Amino acid sequence: MQILDGAAVSAHIKEQIRQEVVELKSDGKKVPHLAVIIVGNNPASESYVSNKVKSCGEVGFGSSLIRLDATISEEELLSVVNKLNEDKDVDGILVQLPLPKHIEENAVINAINPTKDVDGFHPISQGKMVLGLPTFLPATPYGIMLMLEHYKIDTVGKHCVVIGRSNIVGTPMTLLMSRNSNPGNATVTMCHSKTSNLKEICLQADIIVAAIGRPFFLKEDMVRDGAVVIDVGINRIDDASKKSGFRLVGDVDFDNVAPKCSFITPVPKGVGPMTICGLMKNTLLAARGK
Ligand code: GUN
Repeated sequence: MQILDGAAVSAHIKEQIRQEVVELKSDGKKVPHLAVIIVGNNPASESYVSNKVKSCGEVGFGSSLIRLDATISEEELLSVVNKLNEDKDVDGILVQLPLPKHIEENAVINAINPTKDVDGFHPISQGKMVLGLPTFLPATPYGIMLMLEHYKIDTVGKHCVVIGRSNIVGTPMTLLMSRNSNPGNATVTMCHSKTSNLKEICLQADIIVAAIGRPFFLKEDMVRDGAVVIDVGINRIDDASKKSGFRLVGDVDFDNVAPKCSFITPVPKGVGPMTICGLMKNTLLAARGK
C-alpha cells in the first residue's frame, strides 16, 4: 500500500507555479492576484480561506481577503463581487461556500465574471467542462486529477466509483474520470445517498472517490484488494486530547481500509492540499488569459 502524499505533491506543483510567477515578473507582466471573500466566521471556512491566502503568498501571487459580516445582504455581496469583476488587478474571485441561508448561492456564483471564476462553479465554466472545452475546473476534482497524474495511476478502462453527487466534487469528478484523457477513460459509476446496493458497487471498483461528507463511511468490507481510494472528506470529530477539541477525519475508515489498498489518500494531507493546487493553477491561468 502506498500513501498518496498530497502535501508533497502540492509542494512540488506550488514550486513550479512559483517559478512561473518569477518568469512572469521578469517578462514585465503582472503578478496573478486572487480575491477571496468570506462571509461570517464559520470555523471550517476560516481555515480553508486562510490556507488559500497563505498559498498565494508561497507561490508569489497577490491576494486580498475580504471579510464580510454574516448579516450582509445579498445585494451588498453582489455589489462587492461586481467591484472585483471590474478591478483590473484582480484575476481570480473566490466566494467561500457555504454562504448564510438568506443569501442565494447561485445568484452570487452567477455574478462572478466567468473569466475570473477560478472555482469553476459558474454555469459557463461548468458548461464548458461538460463539453470538454478549456476552462477552469473545480479545484478539488482538478487537484485529484493532478494527483493521479503525478503518481501515474492507470485509470484507462478501470471502474471508478464516485460516492457523492455535489456540484463541487461528485458531479465534476464523474465527468473528468470518464473523459477521453489521461487520467480519465475510466468507466464511472456515480453513487449517492439513495443508492441501494452501494456496497456491491464499491466492491466492483478499481478506484473509489469518497465525497459524501460522513466520517468513516467507507469500510473495509466495501473495498476490494488492490483498490485505489481517494478520500475527499474533511470531517471534524470531537477529540478531547487535542487543544482545539477536535480532529479531522475523512469519509474513509482509513486504519481498516488502507491495508487493502494499492494507493490511498490520508486525511489530512491528502486531497486538501491538492485542492489548493487546483486553485493556484486556475488563478495562474486566469492571469495568463489577459
Ligand atoms: N467550500 C468547500 N469547498 C469549496 C471550494 O472549493 N470553493 C469554495 N468557494 N467554497 C468551498
